[in-house]
Amino acid sequence: MSDEITSTLQENRVFEPSARFLAEIGPLVVPDMAAYWRMYRQSIDDPATFWGEIARDFRWYRPFDTVVEWKAPDAKWFVGGTTNVCANCIDRQVDAGHGDDAAIVWEGEPCAPQPEVRTLTYNDLLREVSRTANALKALGVRRGDIVTIYMGMVPELTIAMLACARIGAPHSVIFGGFAPNAIVDRVRDAKSKIIITCDGAWRRGQVVALKKNVDDACEKLPEVEHVLVVRRTGEPVTMHTPRDQWWHALVAQQSTDCPCEALDSEDLLFLLYTSGSTGKPKGICHTVGGYMVYTAYTAKTTFNLVAGSNHVYFCTADIGWITGHSYIVYGMLPNRVPTLMYEGAPNFPAEDRFWAMIARHKVTHFYTAPTAIRAFMKWGDAHPAKHDLSSLLLLGTVGEPINPEAWIWYHQHIGASRCPIVDTMWQTETGGHIITPLPGCTPTVPGSCTLAFFGIDAAIVNEKGEELPPNQGGLLVIRKPWPGMLRGIHGDRERFIETYWSKVAGMYVAGDGARRDKRGYFWIMGRIDDVINVSGHRLGTMEIESALVSHPAVVEAAVVGMPHEIKGTGIAAFVTLAPSFTGTADDSLRKQLAEHVTKEIGAIARPDIIRFTALLPKTRSGKIMRRLLRDIAAGRDSTQDTTTLEDFTVLAKLRESDE
Ligand code: WT7
Repeated sequence: MSDEITSTLQENRVFEPSARFLAEIGPLVVPDMAAYWRMYRQSIDDPATFWGEIARDFRWYRPFDTVVEWKAPDAKWFVGGTTNVCANCIDRQVDAGHGDDAAIVWEGEPCAPQPEVRTLTYNDLLREVSRTANALKALGVRRGDIVTIYMGMVPELTIAMLACARIGAPHSVIFGGFAPNAIVDRVRDAKSKIIITCDGAWRRGQVVALKKNVDDACEKLPEVEHVLVVRRTGEPVTMHTPRDQWWHALVAQQSTDCPCEALDSEDLLFLLYTSGSTGKPKGICHTVGGYMVYTAYTAKTTFNLVAGSNHVYFCTADIGWITGHSYIVYGMLPNRVPTLMYEGAPNFPAEDRFWAMIARHKVTHFYTAPTAIRAFMKWGDAHPAKHDLSSLLLLGTVGEPINPEAWIWYHQHIGASRCPIVDTMWQTETGGHIITPLPGCTPTVPGSCTLAFFGIDAAIVNEKGEELPPNQGGLLVIRKPWPGMLRGIHGDRERFIETYWSKVAGMYVAGDGARRDKRGYFWIMGRIDDVINVSGHRLGTMEIESALVSHPAVVEAAVVGMPHEIKGTGIAAFVTLAPSFTGTADDSLRKQLAEHVTKEIGAIARPDIIRFTALLPKTRSGKIMRRLLRDIAAGRDSTQDTTTLEDFTVLAKLRESDE
């Protein structure tokens, strides 16, 4: 493993919080590093007191008896407590007299000079979520039934999630960029009988045919009894009766009164599928109490949110990923800071979309991904320069390590050298931030996600679980439970244990290689499994290989990551053609194969380069030598030991083969 962890990045610039930030952000949640260390120590030594106090701020129907029960790998948080996440997001705000405050600000894809904007207050949310919850009940959804949601970025998506949470029906949101096959796999795995979707979604002036994709998926899913369809684009769609119903017709008839179910802390709140080393995506399970407390508290602390202030928060993620779940919806609403969600794309109608939005909505907190920042850099400084970004107080990044050049550009061109940047490291599995600076508190170093969040006993260890000295690369692990941790992989206990808990006894293994510097700051060096991080999205190389092999022209495929200027990691596919294939291995076939992958998985999985090869390099035991392929894809001369290579000539052939 050590040869995979070879980052030698040296970065010594330290950034302290600016005076203007300290003057404008409002009271600091964590005022200084002394407070950070004091709180951190308590959170590790006495998690029951630390998290117990935070959790008691929420609405519980029955108070919890025990803060945490831990028998690796199983954690239970806020044991014996009953609560409801929707009640804590909405009803609590309304009952405290904040019903007229803005909860969600939504901006549609601009098709006119002035984009369509909708503001939903907590009162609006309470009414719409209650009606939608009643509509789900009318369709037969009961507590414990998993509801699949495949929608564009419209307010009804958030409303649908909260409606599920209200009645204790766990949701499974599928990113709207996924293809019908991805819907089939996920609906089957979740045994979901209902799908909520939209007729279509707007993206760069085009309609993404969401309902059509659901129809295609449903051909293989006779178990789906209901499809509830939001009308967004007005494009014609086929409605299959009695299966399909319009949201606007069904929801409008419902009562606005829907009591919240009192759910157990450890009831399932949602499933979210993510890629792993093997072909099948895994349904990560998050539960009610721990996830609620962890996302709301990390959001409040990492972004220093102040309820009832001028704060307006904008996260550019899609709700179809964990970032959107945790830091557009569930972490935000309990903090009573308006959360801005948008439909469309960052470069439509022009490459200044985000900067125009920041100026229009007076955004104070902006949270995006390094891949987006690299694209902004490429599009040019003139775009942000022509907008008034003076409302910004704080910037954040998430999804992959940020290269220091991108960090510095973000700091200067978006943050006017005065906004702290929080580089937040976390995963679908962790529910919320695990390693991150705290703004106004932690000095930052470009490229480092700095220090562990409260309650996160993070360390860099070897396979025996021994902590490594500074600057030595190793496995990133977490040695104690935290409230937002995953509780399992849906329906696959063995895979849960195998993936996260078997590499180092008793510790959660994140799947990332990392090191700590002399200051104790963490530097993430990249995945150590067959997962690649393309534009901040996690993809299993095996999923892409399976998609390629499902094409009749292909017998074998190996997919590896390669350096990519914008995406961070691009996708390189090495493909062996079937003997029965009589066509030519040319660009037109490359295009066909790339389109096939898009059709099977979605555009995010489309290979950047495809190479044809008569053989793939394998060890004697038949394992594809991915390290070698990575070197070839990156154009590096391989210095790797190749003595186990079955056929040395394969390597030479691959190098020669034209692109
Ligand atoms: C993987 C998790 C968490 C939301 C987005 C991705 C990488 C995430 C950072 C960061 C370095 C990061 C890791 C991690 N990652 N944030 N700030 N610095 N790497 O969620 O799809 O579950 O992917 O993303 O490799 O394991 P995800």
